[in-house]
Amino acid sequence: MTDTEQGVGLAGQSGDAASVLAWFRRMRATEPVSHDEQAGVWHVFGSADVERILSDSATFSSEFSSLMPAQEDVDRFIKGNVLRKDPPQHRKLRNLASKAFTPRVVADLADRIDVIADELLDAMAGAPRVDLVADLAYPLPVIVIAQLLGIPPEDRPMFGRWADSLVAPESQTGFIPNAERTRAMAVVMREMNAYCLDHIRRRRAHPTDDLTSKLVAAELDGQRLDDEEIIGFVGLLLLAGHITTTALLSNVILCLDEHPEAAAALRADPAALPGAIEEVLRYRTPLAPSMRRTTRDVRIGEHTVPAGQIVLAWLASANRDERRFAEPDRFDIRRTPNPHLSFGHGIHFCLGAPLARLEVRIAMEKILARWSEISVGDGAEHHDARGIFGARRLPLDVRWA
Ligand code: HEM
Repeated sequence: MTDTEQGVGLAGQSGDAASVLAWFRRMRATEPVSHDEQAGVWHVFGSADVERILSDSATFSSEFSSLMPAQEDVDRFIKGNVLRKDPPQHRKLRNLASKAFTPRVVADLADRIDVIADELLDAMAGAPRVDLVADLAYPLPVIVIAQLLGIPPEDRPMFGRWADSLVAPESQTGFIPNAERTRAMAVVMREMNAYCLDHIRRRRAHPTDDLTSKLVAAELDGQRLDDEEIIGFVGLLLLAGHITTTALLSNVILCLDEHPEAAAALRADPAALPGAIEEVLRYRTPLAPSMRRTTRDVRIGEHTVPAGQIVLAWLASANRDERRFAEPDRFDIRRTPNPHLSFGHGIHFCLGAPLARLEVRIAMEKILARWSEISVGDGAEHHDARGIFGARRLPLDVRWA
């Protein structure tokens, strides 16, 4: 693909949500599979193709280490990163992690999430203007995951700092980091590896009931996770779980602000909240692309994509595909079925989906109960929608009930 009026590549594309969605629409219509020479990647925009890519891990690999500059701290950090593994290593890590991170563990978190959300809302009590992100949507998932892992409260700001520096704009848009960026990431990862290793060793010596202790003890068919695999998993949980959940909560508020009739319907019938959250996930997909590497020459649509290429499977575009969703640009909190791909598909389907749904539902129940009026104020700032669909800063004018 070249930069014609028909479609521009990723780099020539502005990162605001409206133009990214317009780009998706244009590309689905004209070039649903396209090669982006400048970015050195292939883009895939249609729902059926995206789903197929995510379903076929033999052809579309999640392992990128061969494309990245080798770096000891990075290698160590990703050893247990289930998101970046193919079978059979993926199966071992995922099964063991699922044994520790069970639906029961998540359901048991509801009371804690309740308390944390109340504390965060109490801290802003009566304020006519709040920043949804700084005051609630960002701290809530970080505190939940840190508590779950048994990380002491005083160390939490450090995790926020690490996460912010690892989830930089270029890594969000799915590019493989270059040598300079790898070096910068390695500094943070070294610090994080050392911290996590210390924490894991303490839990090995003195187990508690936290997730880290469960990961240390998890055993399946005689297999266990070694310390480095646990480091990678803990690191992934900290990174994967917070920026996306923050984005989702901010997106719920943005969608309700744009669609007051949906906000009124939810206030009248809070039981509709889970369905509304699914529609927000579809309509404003928090993590826009999933990245894969081709292991062989493969036909996608009209193109043969050679082996060794990076493919960006655009979840956010698939979720607006008119061949999958009737009136995809309509926000409909009662949409059924709603087969969105926002948590991925296939073997890498998001392990934290139940937790993210629970956190956002509890937070929204409290928001609707405590704020009788909500409007988005001036000064909102957004992530680059080619990576993360969601707000960085979301000032709200609120009336307390
Ligand atoms: C995987 C999205 C929250 C942990 C994924 C994938 C997506 C995703 C799209 C698959 C990526 C791929 O196949 O390339 C989201 C969204 C979230 C969210 C939109 C919030 C709204 C969370 C939370 C956690 C979490 C709260 C944990 C605390 C994971 C893990 C994987 C994953 C461990 C890797 C699973 C595997 O590779 O087998 N997530 N996620 N996520 N997510 Fe989430």
